[in-house]
Amino acid sequence: MASLSKLYAALAVASVFSSALGLEVCTQIQNAVSSASTVSFPGARKGNYTADIAHWVASSTQQAACSVEPGTAADVSAIIQLIGKAKAPFAVKGGGHSGNPTFSSTTGVQISMRRFSSVTYNNKTATADIGPGLIWDDVYTALEPHGVIIAGGRVGGVGMAGFTLGGGYNWLTNQVGLTLDTVTAYELVKPNGKIVTVTAASDPDLFFALKGGGNNFGIVTKFTLKTFARGNVWGGAISYPPSALPALQAAVLQFNDNVTDPKAEIIPGYTHVSGEFQPSIVLFYDGPAQPAKIYDTFLAIPNLFADVKPRSMGALVASLPTDQPGGTRGYFHGVTLTGYSSKLLDAIANETSFWGARLPGVSVGYHIEPFLETIYTHNALPTAFPWFRTPRTMPLNLQFTWNATTPDADVYAVMKQSAEYLTQFAVHDGTGIAGAPIYPNYALFGTPLGSVFGNNIGRLRRIKAQVDPHNVMGLAGGWKL
Ligand SMILES: Cc1cc2nc3c(=O)[nH]c(=O)nc-3n(C[C@H](O)[C@H](O)[C@H](O)COP(=O)(O)OP(=O)(O)OC[C@H]3O[C@@H](n4cnc5c(N)ncnc54)[C@H](O)[C@@H]3O)c2cc1C
Ligand SMILES: *[C@@H]1O[C@H](CO)[C@@H](O)[C@H](O)[C@H]1NC(C)=O
Ligand SMILES: *[C@@H]1O[C@H](CO)[C@@H](O)[C@H](O)[C@H]1NC(C)=O
Ligand SMILES: *[C@@H]1O[C@H](CO)[C@@H](O)[C@H](O)[C@H]1NC(C)=O
Ligand SMILES: *[C@@H]1O[C@H](CO)[C@@H](O)[C@H](O)[C@H]1NC(C)=O
Ligand SMILES: *[C@@H]1O[C@H](CO)[C@@H](O)[C@H](O)[C@H]1NC(C)=O
Repeated sequence: MASLSKLYAALAVASVFSSALGLEVCTQIQNAVSSASTVSFPGARKGNYTADIAHWVASSTQQAACSVEPGTAADVSAIIQLIGKAKAPFAVKGGGHSGNPTFSSTTGVQISMRRFSSVTYNNKTATADIGPGLIWDDVYTALEPHGVIIAGGRVGGVGMAGFTLGGGYNWLTNQVGLTLDTVTAYELVKPNGKIVTVTAASDPDLFFALKGGGNNFGIVTKFTLKTFARGNVWGGAISYPPSALPALQAAVLQFNDNVTDPKAEIIPGYTHVSGEFQPSIVLFYDGPAQPAKIYDTFLAIPNLFADVKPRSMGALVASLPTDQPGGTRGYFHGVTLTGYSSKLLDAIANETSFWGARLPGVSVGYHIEPFLETIYTHNALPTAFPWFRTPRTMPLNLQFTWNATTPDADVYAVMKQSAEYLTQFAVHDGTGIAGAPIYPNYALFGTPLGSVFGNNIGRLRRIKAQVDPHNVMGLAGGWKL
């Protein structure tokens, strides 16, 4: 555990230094920005400091020296230049759903992008310009009057910016790929303050790098994403009693092996909380009504709760809220799979109850995300993530949440061990491969960079050296090149 305590100690030391420096830069920013932007300080009656530093889980929140809500790209440019000159630690937050401390939090300058909240639909290009301060729920709602949807978040409350910069497994992934595959342009404030529009034609290197490279290349102030003409979709959540596990598992395997309709997706989940194993599933079909056969087995298993029906994409996503009670702590992690087998599903269920029983007070969750073999064939251009597209890999999502009574480091150690165990298991089982990419939006902090960016590291570092020679974005946390 030596390396783990070093990891936590480093977080504490860095914060003392960064808050003093941050405070100085906060004042400079306050003097430089236009009236469209606001700087807020802890404890002040005016401003929005508390909301600006807040995250999905409390473990991802730090006390910043101040928070800034920029209102224009020009102000973002002024802010990043002052931060770069002072070498002050900072963070950029979209929806604040990162499960990794320091990825969108800081003890220096907290930038919250929430004022970038517009959605503009362009029916000539079938694209939408989307503000990085939005959560997906609001993006869907804004596009609904135009009769279009977008390949975005699958559950409520998740930010569009971090999601899209890291990848984006979505309800249309079987049909169009990752959310990053559907981005046609980025408005980017470069680390030197220059505001540019990045497209495949204007800057192929940066276009590649922003597709999975996270916050390494600047601050995105606008995303342009493809839209898809759709009416209602069908689906929702089902919770099962523990006794349903064998039937659910058989149905999941049957779906994984035999359903080839790309409009169909599912997210089965195994959760152990309060001493109980809770199987569940979210069903999705990209059509206005329940399709024949595909979901019959899932619907026939006796359940505790089911909310499955046709509705708008926005209503579906909003029906799957993920808000946590205040103070809840949480981490994500990912295991990369190339398939599912009965043995592997058993092992995942065993991990859920094994660790659930050993971590009382912790909600121990594993989310299964089966996709078609073809999900990475919808984009011919290379992207920062994933660094190879065949064989097709899929993320298994570990989601652990707990209250302050459980030490963070205990949960961290278990999640790391469990992910390593399942990875080994899958490799031996033929449902995984050694050295596969771990999805950056799920990977637990401390995961080696090579597991996140693999063979792309060289190209990404060369692009990084060009766009950010003084490593300004290195002052913010994340998967740093
Ligand atoms: C409940 C829940 C459900 C999820 N569901 C899915 C899912 O279905 N599919 C999936 O693929 N992932 C999913 N995720 C993972 C999700 O993609 C990540 O948590 C993602 O980081 C969320 O984006 P955000 O903007 O909310 O995060 P933030 O924490 O705000 O940001 C994440 C990272 O992006 C950077 N960033 C944010 N905005 C900008 C910007 N404008 N410019 C530059 N960098 C920026 C931040 O600095 C940070 O490093 C889920 C997560 C949660 C907690
Ligand atoms: C503060 O932020 C929250 C959410 O981020 C928002 O709902 C609220 O309106 C903001 N308040 C002010 C005064 O800007
Ligand atoms: C775009 O919108 C305009 C105005 O509402 C409409 O006339 C036109 O038919 C639409 N074009 C497409 C391709 O939907
Ligand atoms: C998939 O379909 C084939 C052919 O109908 C069948 O033999 C097999 O058992 C099915 N797989 C599962 C897991 O049900
Ligand atoms: C259950 O998981 C634990 C922890 O990974 C492992 O040690 C044990 O062998 C597993 N048991 C079975 C039956 O797979
Ligand atoms: C943490 O405490 C809250 C409030 O008491 C409770 O609702 C929640 O279920 C707890 N979380 C876990 C994982 O036990």
